[in-house]
Amino acid sequence: MTTKVVVLGGCGFIGRNLVTHLLDVGKYSITIVDNLSVGAPFVSDAKMIVGDIRTITQLDADVVINCAAQCGVQQSMQDPKKDMETNVGGIVNLLQLSVKHTVKRFIQLSSFAVLTNRSFYGLSKQVGELYCQMFSKIFGIETVVLRLSNVYGPYSEHKSSVIAKWVRQRKQGQPISVWGDGTQTRDFVFVGDVVETIEKAIATPLPKKHMVLPVCTGVDTMVQTVADSISNKQVVTNELPVGDGNCVVVDPLVTRELLGVGLHSLVCEKVMELI
Ligand SMILES: NC(=O)c1ccc[n+]([C@@H]2O[C@H](COP(=O)([O-])OP(=O)(O)OC[C@H]3O[C@@H](n4cnc5c(N)ncnc54)[C@H](O)[C@@H]3O)[C@@H](O)[C@H]2O)c1
Repeated sequence: MTTKVVVLGGCGFIGRNLVTHLLDVGKYSITIVDNLSVGAPFVSDAKMIVGDIRTITQLDADVVINCAAQCGVQQSMQDPKKDMETNVGGIVNLLQLSVKHTVKRFIQLSSFAVLTNRSFYGLSKQVGELYCQMFSKIFGIETVVLRLSNVYGPYSEHKSSVIAKWVRQRKQGQPISVWGDGTQTRDFVFVGDVVETIEKAIATPLPKKHMVLPVCTGVDTMVQTVADSISNKQVVTNELPVGDGNCVVVDPLVTRELLGVGLHSLVCEKVMELI
């Protein structure tokens, strides 16, 4: 039988890559729900509903995948209330609806930002994780939190993350802007590896009803190394923005073992495919 999957935020960077991948796999009937605050609709065989995760009232799904979020670290520092309303209020609404409509599994995309405690974004994503845990404990719904490191790849033109910004600047013929001394690190993970992991999380049996799994490479790369591979025309700004710094290195072994995925694309090689 076809599995009914609802992808919230399916018009965004990861959501669009995910929907495209799931349609290619061909085993799923897909509905996208997105409020189009960031993402834009695209032509596909998925059903498209314009809706907001804070206010929707229906979820007809076997599996729910929540890619919708307020994703900006800097925006969260400027407007913590708005960040909380989407990243906490929105997820609580989705979890409540998932219980009401007997959704089998709820997959939440979280972030490595929960590990560094540097921003309101990290805080709201952490609270979202805790709501998944509590809903699973109280109502028995399966919740899988996929904690992503720094994702890059196609359809990320609108993002403010470093690789997306540098690829955009290089395509526009501008020098790329490097913050700080370039020694700050990221665990860059390719979106193709991320969406394969999400697909495996749809149906793979897991040892517990609530799981938190890292989605990363386990390799920290200095941003300067990636900057040099994109362009030698660079402008350096001395100060790091609030909320920035080195990444935390996490071993993705548990995710590899439980979901049987690779997560190993080489960052500089894949980045050149985007230019
Ligand atoms: N891109 C990364 O490097 C990265 C890293 C770690 C975690 N994540 C997480 O992955 C998820 C997807 O990130 P992304 O990079 O694709 O972001 P994105 O901003 O490209 O996509 C988010 C999508 O959600 C939609 N959206 C926002 N608020 C909404 C709301 N209230 N109701 C309905 N739709 C709404 C937007 O229109 C957009 O299409 C987020 O939860 C993010 O926190 C992303």
